[in-house]
Amino acid sequence: MSKQSKTIYLKDYQASNFLIKNCFLCFHLDPDHTVVQSKLELQKNPNSKAGNDLFLNGEQLKLHHIKIDGKTLKTTDYELDELGLRLKNCPDEFVLELENSINPAANTSLNGIYLGEGIFCSQNEPEGFRRITYFLDRPDNMSIFTVKIIADKKAFPILLSNGNLIEKGDLAAGKHFVLWQDPFKKPSYLFALVAGDLAKLEDIYQSPTGKKVKLEFFAKAKDIDKCHFALQALKDAMLWDEQVYQRVYDLDLYMIVAVDIFNSGAMENKGLNIFNTIYVLADAKTATDIDYYNVQSVIAHEYFHNWTGNRITCQSWFELTLKEGLTVFRDQEFSSDLNSRVIKRLDDASTIKQRQFAEDAGPTAHPIKPKSYISMKNFYTRTVYEKGSEVIRMLYTLLGKEQFLAAMQDYFDQYDGQAITTNDFVAVFERKAGLDLSQFKLWYDYAGTTEISVKSSFQEGVLKLQISQHCPDTPGQNNKKAMFFPLQISLIDDTNGKNLLNKTLTISQKSEDFSFEGFAKKPLVAVNVNFSAPIKVKMQQSVQDQIKLAQFSQDLYLRYECLQALASDAILGEINSKHYKTAFNFILASDTAFDAKARLLQLPSEEILKQLKTPIDFSHNAKALQQLKQDLTQSFGQDLLKIYHEIKLKTYSYDSVSASKRSLKNQLLQLLSCDQNHIKLAFEHYMQADNITDKVAGLQALKDHDHQLKTQAFEHFYQDYKDEKLVLMKYFSLLAGSAKTDLNSLKILIQSPTYDENIPNLIFALMGSFARNYNNFHHAASYDFYADYVLKIDAKNPECAARISESFRDCNKLLKQQKQAMRSSLGNIVQNKHLSSNTYEIINKILEQDKSN
Ligand code: ARG
Ligand code: ZN
Repeated sequence: MSKQSKTIYLKDYQASNFLIKNCFLCFHLDPDHTVVQSKLELQKNPNSKAGNDLFLNGEQLKLHHIKIDGKTLKTTDYELDELGLRLKNCPDEFVLELENSINPAANTSLNGIYLGEGIFCSQNEPEGFRRITYFLDRPDNMSIFTVKIIADKKAFPILLSNGNLIEKGDLAAGKHFVLWQDPFKKPSYLFALVAGDLAKLEDIYQSPTGKKVKLEFFAKAKDIDKCHFALQALKDAMLWDEQVYQRVYDLDLYMIVAVDIFNSGAMENKGLNIFNTIYVLADAKTATDIDYYNVQSVIAHEYFHNWTGNRITCQSWFELTLKEGLTVFRDQEFSSDLNSRVIKRLDDASTIKQRQFAEDAGPTAHPIKPKSYISMKNFYTRTVYEKGSEVIRMLYTLLGKEQFLAAMQDYFDQYDGQAITTNDFVAVFERKAGLDLSQFKLWYDYAGTTEISVKSSFQEGVLKLQISQHCPDTPGQNNKKAMFFPLQISLIDDTNGKNLLNKTLTISQKSEDFSFEGFAKKPLVAVNVNFSAPIKVKMQQSVQDQIKLAQFSQDLYLRYECLQALASDAILGEINSKHYKTAFNFILASDTAFDAKARLLQLPSEEILKQLKTPIDFSHNAKALQQLKQDLTQSFGQDLLKIYHEIKLKTYSYDSVSASKRSLKNQLLQLLSCDQNHIKLAFEHYMQADNITDKVAGLQALKDHDHQLKTQAFEHFYQDYKDEKLVLMKYFSLLAGSAKTDLNSLKILIQSPTYDENIPNLIFALMGSFARNYNNFHHAASYDFYADYVLKIDAKNPECAARISESFRDCNKLLKQQKQAMRSSLGNIVQNKHLSSNTYEIINKILEQDKSN
């Protein structure tokens, strides 16, 4: 292992011995030779007992010179290695001046400052700042930043950084400069810089308090008109945060920049968010209903970070969920208030089950508060984000809305301006509610998905429930203790579906008994209603009861659960498919809302199916799923078609009523599409669509067929959109996920002139989707090819490579031959001498788990 592959442990956390109070940066921007001058005012940290040696992080920098208190240092006065700069025996308080250079054009890692499509752009979370200049690049070092940017005026008319614009002007030789100052102290990961030729959309947000904030969106000129929806979402988020959390924005200017070349979704840099275009741009021609929805929620997410993340930040990266779990919780609530709450809950629960449970059950399982990492970038996960949010939601349920929100006010009052821990966070809730949450905190420490098993009995009007819990072993964690969580249950009259009792139990023991009295006959039992805890439930329940719950339950999530369970059991051959069909038919005929019905009629994804049985038999799952679909169209084809035609839509608009109708219509098309006879229907659906939601639905319905109409539709789509990078993602992702796309067809797609390996979105769309195309991915030849591809990307962009290498996570659960083949491909990856620590960490975990079995 190289020096860079060192494991960092939470238990080794120590406060920094120095802090940088003020920092002045000057950038002379140039594509391959940007000079960075910095002046840092350093002080001993009163909370540290360590000595006076100073270590500043710095990677891939060229150091020009250093001065301490105005005196230039000789090269013998400091030590420099590939991780940074060490200065021995510094004064307790001093000024450090540095000059170094960087090469943004050659920076393909997309961390630090890089040049993409002629735009200088930064990404510093978690540890990108050390690729800009030498610094205490850790979140508990918070400084006041003053930033001067100098650049060629013609090529880079827009020059942005955090905070307020203090000064600007022209310079000799066609250059100009700007001076930005951020009045709020912040860690280096929130620093941002953007320079380029960008168009602007601006507006003003007027707060109910009277305060005015200037809002500015920046994008390529051709895209700027696609920013209006995001602008409205931002205003909605600002108002919501004032109304619900009493959080008012603290600067006079809020800027959002949209770029195509970006490793993640978006970044909450203070006053200057940088977004992947996918979460900003939206119009009927290029964004689906789901894209619109996501734009609104990610815009809100980044905005909410201003208080949960920026004003109050993390002490160390182990505490990432302090800001991410909490901010996801806040954005979920925002989306629920502005759209349908029940649908949002169902969708979030379903994402957790498909993605987070899979993560928790694999070799990269980690607690929401990880205990160690090699590369922190590998921990921006479903677990830290979405499970982290579920943990907050449990607190919300335990305390109740009012007390939860009151505790949040205490949190803001108490910790504003600090870098803190999740322990500090939980303590606020303990104090507010007078609760002992020490057992609850296990949620921060344990990886793995807790399972409960529920046994029920009924006698003389009394219903007894025995609930026992178990959290499975995960890498490095065995024999876990009992967890503390709220468990919502409903007892339901099995003839009319009336709720006889709704109750939130608090579970804290390995096994507990509960009894409920006064029932004339045995009620239906619904457990983990509204997904009250992020757990799995095992309950002996007759198919008849499951069917009734699917029909009756007032909780949409629970109905969905029952339908998914019936369908999965049918697919795995555990029950006769007629039972699922009974439930399906009931839903089809019911007067459930369109968007809810669309979801209830969904069959379980292959992602869910592969979690249910080991070793995973992908080909069986795909076939059985297809068979069930055919069975459904045979029995209900006419009904599906009738409802499909009955749903009428006017000219496209993104609004909840028409989006809801479209979702059902498109789901019906999906079900019908397994029947060859409906290829023409899907083709017409595509051709007649006046919006991309329906176009994509048409392609989705065609993609698994071998038919000239499929080829024609895809070609038409490609010609229409080959200049829209965001839409190309959909094109590549649909094709890479097609049953008809094998390794050879994938290779052809990679050769496509519009497939661009500099754009992570396209890599995820193509390679990520192919890896989820299980039947085509799980072959020795595909593994080898994919492994080579990981290495190829790794040489440029380790973060992106590490992410696509997670596709190998099922290794240990594969059939013997596949497993051996995959192991050998993974062996080729780890043996590569130049492998990044990011990818090493993922692949090594997969191989290690495999060994221990
Ligand atoms: N803090 C950002 C957000 O959740 C994500 C940053 C992702 N960073 C990364 N290296 N992947 O809004
Ligand atoms: Zn976030």
